[in-house]
Amino acid sequence: MTRVAVFPGSFDPMTNAHLDVARRASGLFDRLIIGVLNNPRKAPLFSIDERVALIERSVADLGEHVTVDAFDGLTVEFARRHGAGFIVRGLRAVSDFEAELQMALTNRKLAPEVDTTFLMTALEFGYVSSSLTKEVARFGGDIRPMVPAPVAEALAARVAADPRV
Ligand code: PNS
Repeated sequence: MTRVAVFPGSFDPMTNAHLDVARRASGLFDRLIIGVLNNPRKAPLFSIDERVALIERSVADLGEHVTVDAFDGLTVEFARRHGAGFIVRGLRAVSDFEAELQMALTNRKLAPEVDTTFLMTALEFGYVSSSLTKEVARFGGDIRPMVPAPVAEALAARVAADPRV
């Protein structure tokens, strides 16, 4: 039996917490598709193509069974399109739990055949979030411990080009 999972998120941008979850999931599933949500209601710092490309560079060493794809609409439809029986989400702290439980139960109602699995982020990345990383970058702080190297480069370049980002 082939176990296929999607790992959906905004990934604006991918952090080391996301990468840690992707790495753990890549060892558990035969195929892992990292799904980047193209949400027209949000104004992301990085375009959908930029986010996909940054993730592709960041997960290059995880193996060919890990791929990246953009999506819009429902996560469960994205999972179905890829023939995935699992959604992977990371939990950093108890504070993540409530929203994640609500999403998992909503997704189960929409697609009972797709199960959400949670992976605990490594303790060292438990504090890392995309939004705080962008704030630290904006004010000139060192973001290298928080994000994969390609993301750190891209964020630094973006802030250098426009410090108001
Ligand atoms: O990285 P994020 O922002 O925490 O990811 C949230 C995401 C993309 C997983 C969630 O917003 C999502 O699944 N959006 C797609 C729309 C959807 O399926 N909504 C209903 C179930 S929550």
